[in-house]
Amino acid sequence: MNPGSFITFEGGEGVGKSTQAALLVEALRARGLQVVQTREPGGTKGAEAIRALLLDKQFEWGARAEALLFAAARSDHVENLIGPALDRGEWVVCDRFIDSSRAYQAGGGEWSDDAILSLHTLGSHALMPDLTFLLQAGSADIAARLRERDGDDADRIGGKSAAYHARVAEHFRRLATVDPERFVIIDAAGTPEEVHGRIMRAMAPLIGEGG
Ligand code: TYD
Repeated sequence: MNPGSFITFEGGEGVGKSTQAALLVEALRARGLQVVQTREPGGTKGAEAIRALLLDKQFEWGARAEALLFAAARSDHVENLIGPALDRGEWVVCDRFIDSSRAYQAGGGEWSDDAILSLHTLGSHALMPDLTFLLQAGSADIAARLRERDGDDADRIGGKSAAYHARVAEHFRRLATVDPERFVIIDAAGTPEEVHGRIMRAMAPLIGEGG
């Protein structure tokens, strides 16, 4: 049996990551593969508790505490869910992972990429995905999706300024450009099925369906 791969979905808010992660999981399971579907921040009981702290608007986390909390949540997630699943040879599909910390806490905030990666080494043995889909959509599409999803009720990070989110998007693009082996940039415009089709074409070599 092929060992499973670790696949992550990244991108800004409202680009359809969760929908696409779910569709990919369904497609892999339909091929008889064992797949763990998870998300960040969260995925384990402890990390979900940290998620609630991170996204709650009553807390005004500084940039340092925020990055440490994301790293702590990830450490628990890797130790108790992602690592064991990969050790069993299963697939893991995760909605956001380390690249979100690189884009939001380093790109949008006050940390350097090296500092975020050092935290990841300390917390999670520097575990990196085998493949990362970066979903990108135009800002008008995203604004419409977010209005439909969140109304006026964005979480603590989702509710930050447009300039912050523009820096995050730019940083995601930069990460993908410098690591084209791991990243696949996916045009998130169109129906969920159209976007899923683009993802499955990129998955073909990994699941032995390459032409
Ligand atoms: P998520 O629930 O995936 O938000 P969305 O569905 O809107 O994309 O993630 C919650 C928020 O946490 C989101 O604004 C991105 C942010 N985040 C970071 O800032 N750093 C991180 O390392 C992660 C995993 C998420």
